[in-house]
Amino acid sequence: MISTKNLSVRLSGRTVLSDVSISALPGRVLAIAGPNGSGKSTLLKALSGELPYQGEASINGRSVSGTDPLALSQLRGVLPQSSSVAFPFSVAEVVSFGLVASRHHRKTEASGRIAEALSRVGLHGYEARSYLELSGGEQQRVQLARVLCQIPKPVEEGEPRWLFLDEPVSSLDIRHQLAIMQLARDFARAGGGVIAVMHDLNLTALFADDLLLLKSGEMVGAGPLAEIMHDHLLDKAFSCALKVNRVPEGDLPFVLPHTVGI
Ligand SMILES: Nc1ncnc2c1ncn2[C@@H]1O[C@H](COP(=O)(O)OP(=O)(O)OP(=O)(O)O)[C@@H](O)[C@H]1O
Ligand SMILES: [Mg+2]
Repeated sequence: MISTKNLSVRLSGRTVLSDVSISALPGRVLAIAGPNGSGKSTLLKALSGELPYQGEASINGRSVSGTDPLALSQLRGVLPQSSSVAFPFSVAEVVSFGLVASRHHRKTEASGRIAEALSRVGLHGYEARSYLELSGGEQQRVQLARVLCQIPKPVEEGEPRWLFLDEPVSSLDIRHQLAIMQLARDFARAGGGVIAVMHDLNLTALFADDLLLLKSGEMVGAGPLAEIMHDHLLDKAFSCALKVNRVPEGDLPFVLPHTVGI
């Protein structure tokens, strides 16, 4: 389980996250949504151990700030919102960065893990391609393969593992958006945990079990998606009139804007 209590983050003298108390359970996908600058990436970074925080944050009962980076890297993999690669690495090299923290150092085993991770994101056979020559969506999927190389299994040694995904489908076409969200949900259904920052509310409705809405660094609502995805909470979070509708079959919510312009 992941849990935070009164988690706050100050950056450059500004409070950018304030009193966030949430829990995320293995077996479920937690989506974080909210306007630009609302603190979504900051929250993921604090949970990842990349930023100092006040309050409490724990992964599987271990305090995030009190756990060393190597141990954290075996518990959770992080897909940042953007990743830049400055040198002309091959795709296999970029994916292999995910192996650094793992114990699988034998070369044959490493290449098998790289190939498997690439297959999972639909990039079978891309190992020798130059990363910098790939399209934006292909690069995003290579970065996800790197994370899957680091955390290939939802459960290891009886403990759930976690994927922290910051806008994992922002550059992807519709088919790959669905495939990657399905991969995230499968990871959760197999006993792991997923926390994903999402801007697409309809994909969120399709794939998330729980939803955290943030605004200006504060919680607007958190809980099961069915309890949080309502007009008034979305309106409060996004300052924009949104209407949650339902597909009659399956009672699936979908969201339409009420007004045009901001
Ligand atoms: N290193 C920093 N120093 C000062 N302020 C920062 C720093 N990093 C982020 N912020 C500020 O913190 C706030 C939250 O940023 P964050 O990146 O978490 O937003 P976000 O919700 O992920 O937005 P987006 O949807 O645009 O990705 C923003 O106002 C941002 O300007
Ligand atoms: Mg962000």
